[in-house]
Amino acid sequence: MTAEDFILKSYHTDLQNGTVKWASPSNIALVKYWGKKADQIPENPSISFTLSNCKTLTEISFTKKEDDGFQFDVYFEGEKNEAFRPKIQTFFERIAVYMPFLKDYHFKIDTSNTFPHSSGIASSASGMSAIALCLMSIEAQLSEESNALSSDSAYFKQKASFLARLGSGSACRSIEGELVVWGANESIKDSSDLYGVRFTESVHPNFKNYQDTILLVDKGEKQVSSTVGHQLMYGHPFAQERFKQAHDNLAKLKAVLASGDLEAFITIVESEALTLHAMMMTSLPYFILMKPNTLEIINKIWAYREAQHSKLCFTLDAGANVHLLYPEQEKENVLEFIKNELVSYCQNEHYICDEIGLGANQI
Ligand code: PMV
Repeated sequence: MTAEDFILKSYHTDLQNGTVKWASPSNIALVKYWGKKADQIPENPSISFTLSNCKTLTEISFTKKEDDGFQFDVYFEGEKNEAFRPKIQTFFERIAVYMPFLKDYHFKIDTSNTFPHSSGIASSASGMSAIALCLMSIEAQLSEESNALSSDSAYFKQKASFLARLGSGSACRSIEGELVVWGANESIKDSSDLYGVRFTESVHPNFKNYQDTILLVDKGEKQVSSTVGHQLMYGHPFAQERFKQAHDNLAKLKAVLASGDLEAFITIVESEALTLHAMMMTSLPYFILMKPNTLEIINKIWAYREAQHSKLCFTLDAGANVHLLYPEQEKENVLEFIKNELVSYCQNEHYICDEIGLGANQI
């Protein structure tokens, strides 16, 4: 598929109004996307676990209008929200060429999250993918092309992911589950820079229902927006080595997912998380996004793993919160460990239990 293939070329104009609704999950990268080219094309491939409980629910009602330009209202948890408008305006501008009907309707976008808003969890992946899926459902109602088909069709999912990418890069990995690869690379057949593809290679039962408990160390606004963050990779002294490393780690992880070697999994995942932060610490300007409690938690995890012969490991986003990844069979013990030893490092003792999920659902 090329970007051209996603342009809606003809559509009928007699649909006056309607409502569509989707629930779309967040995702957590194992090999991290950090650095992009123009048009949200990633500098390196990434792979993520799709989550199950952390989701955005979005309903879009649309009504035919006459005048030109984009018209939309955004509601967040029932209240009119002005703060989200600029991001959605930019998103509409970027995707208008693929969805020419955007200027024909007024949209009421009603959205809410299953996780607390001020939790420091990035809602852009779930939020942008939910909007992209709603817009695809509208396109399916308007389309005269035979390839538009149902929401189960490959075209629907690929274009939803393609659009979501233009809203927020990592959002393109939230459409499907349980593992999604984004970014063209040699080790994954059909992988693309334009959209995420479901990882269909063999996955060992060790990864079934893999757990992700998110420790909320800092619920504040992100210190570095991802737009600024990705820009830090322009002219970064280690950028080319890092992009190459991500390709190598993805190839290694593919083998590890097949063999079920959890020791090797831990090494790749933790190294990826620390490399992401190392990139931020060695850029200009430089940032430290971990907090003292992030490091306390990491040291506790390492001590617990050693003492209990556990396969618990951590990963990080571009912030201070810690994702604890572990096999389902360790759930009871790890939750006990969190309650006894880690909650005191969380803001207001707050953490969220999640696990690997299957992707977005139409409601
Ligand atoms: O999708 P963005 O532009 O918010 O970038 C997300 C980048 C990381 O979360 C740090 C890594 C990733 O691959 O999700």
